[in-house]
Amino acid sequence: MLELPRIMGHRGAAGRAPENTLAGLRAAADMGATWVEFDVMLTKDRVPVLFHDDNLKRTTRREALMVETPFAELSSVEAGAWFAPKFAGEPVPSLEMALALALQLGLTPNVEIKPTAGQDEATAAAALEVIACCWPAGRPGPLISSFSRASLEVARRQAPDLPRALIAWRLPRDWSKAAEALACCSLHIAGNRLNAKRVARIKAAGYALAAFTVNEPKVARKLLGWGVDCIITDKPDTIAKAIA
Ligand code: G3P
Ligand code: MG
Repeated sequence: MLELPRIMGHRGAAGRAPENTLAGLRAAADMGATWVEFDVMLTKDRVPVLFHDDNLKRTTRREALMVETPFAELSSVEAGAWFAPKFAGEPVPSLEMALALALQLGLTPNVEIKPTAGQDEATAAAALEVIACCWPAGRPGPLISSFSRASLEVARRQAPDLPRALIAWRLPRDWSKAAEALACCSLHIAGNRLNAKRVARIKAAGYALAAFTVNEPKVARKLLGWGVDCIITDKPDTIAKAIA
């Protein structure tokens, strides 16, 4: 069974550095995180990059859709200044850049496949190709996670040996059937939709369980007390201190 860490940085360490950036990965590692979650979507020319929204606006101030932006154009886009001036100049990283840095920093990535509508298969396929090229076979991970069952199905076929996680805001009625069909080893559920009974059911079925996005120490302690394995958080330092 997959061994998740107790704490995983969310979008890098989104409460401490701009989300889904190399600075975010460094911040997570500096805070002692050993794993980070980040989101992966495709540019117009199908390069997998770390990004959360369909539109670039919120984190780059550029009004454009990622699906209409070629990778080369991202070189004139910066994804750090919106968060704090000291991060100005931070690029939107390719998945390849992020994996290289994760290796250097000793971080295990949880690669969330985050497809734009209609790109579920293509996003997973392209991300898995990059992982096959860039991530050493002997190293644990990456974990491939997604809300998209179609993306996870591609992962199951294309990279059967990589661990998979089904993400959902609330535990879906058919979670057990879906997790089994996709051969997932882990479920990632919104922390505020979990309760002791649901946690017990998931754990009794043999799955690893992560809760997102949990930034409150009290909530993290409660979830861990119920048996949640991993807290996905924007503030790995705060949560680490709270559960030490
Ligand atoms: O991986 C769990 C979490 O990241 C899912 O939500 O929207 O932050 O990608 P979101
Ligand atoms: Mg995510």
